[in-house]
Amino acid sequence: MIKSIVAGNWKMNKTPKNGKLFISEVLANMGQISNIDIIFCPPFTGLYNLNISPPFYLGAQNCYFEDSGPYTGEISLNMLLECNVEYVIIGHSERRRIFNEDNDSINKKVLKAIESGIKPMLCIGETIDEMNAGKAYNIIKKQLISGLNNIKSLKNIIIAYEPVWAIGTGLTASSEQINEVHEFIRKILSQLFDDKESNNTPILYGGSVNSANANELISIDGVNGFLIGGASLDVIKFSKIVKIVNDQ
Ligand code: PGA
Repeated sequence: MIKSIVAGNWKMNKTPKNGKLFISEVLANMGQISNIDIIFCPPFTGLYNLNISPPFYLGAQNCYFEDSGPYTGEISLNMLLECNVEYVIIGHSERRRIFNEDNDSINKKVLKAIESGIKPMLCIGETIDEMNAGKAYNIIKKQLISGLNNIKSLKNIIIAYEPVWAIGTGLTASSEQINEVHEFIRKILSQLFDDKESNNTPILYGGSVNSANANELISIDGVNGFLIGGASLDVIKFSKIVKIVNDQ
């Protein structure tokens, strides 16, 4: 049985002060959580000096694959470790599209995160053009295989399937589409790794998840939780989604 995960990707939102306040409000609003892990992913500046404990964890939104050196604007895994970061989003579609990250650099980040003891959340998903051209499965397969190149074990890896056309648009994939893609992802994982590992890897769905559709989305076979953007910025909406997943 895979433990469900709800991760909130704040993107470039909330100052350190706002973020700290937000987390304390979510914790106060949450009640008893018994079944799931919750990951807050603030911007880098909001990661320092946050005091949270399981089932709440900290995630970063990106990292670099070198330890230190002349890489202006980058953040290493060591720096994240010192902020008690336990997860890192890698290969988000906004990083791929706006910052030109390719599968090769994404793979280097995944490898470095694993080596450092931080769990990568590898994001994959097709654009609207790729979907319309019937290429979605090829793209997903390629992103998955390249992202996991040279990875020896899936043990600390999370996959997040996020159709790019569903991110921040209010559109979500249909239950059938999501179920099919999640099964496809698990099939690819089972071709690359042994059954025990591939069957135990969390596969999250992301793309316009909100408190109104969370119930339906979490009951789709193969969905082990969510990576949430917009709705993760609102105390009431985020807490409601967490409760829905916890109570499922
Ligand atoms: P969204 O973003 O929930 O606002 O669609 C999801 C994401 O980018 O991870």
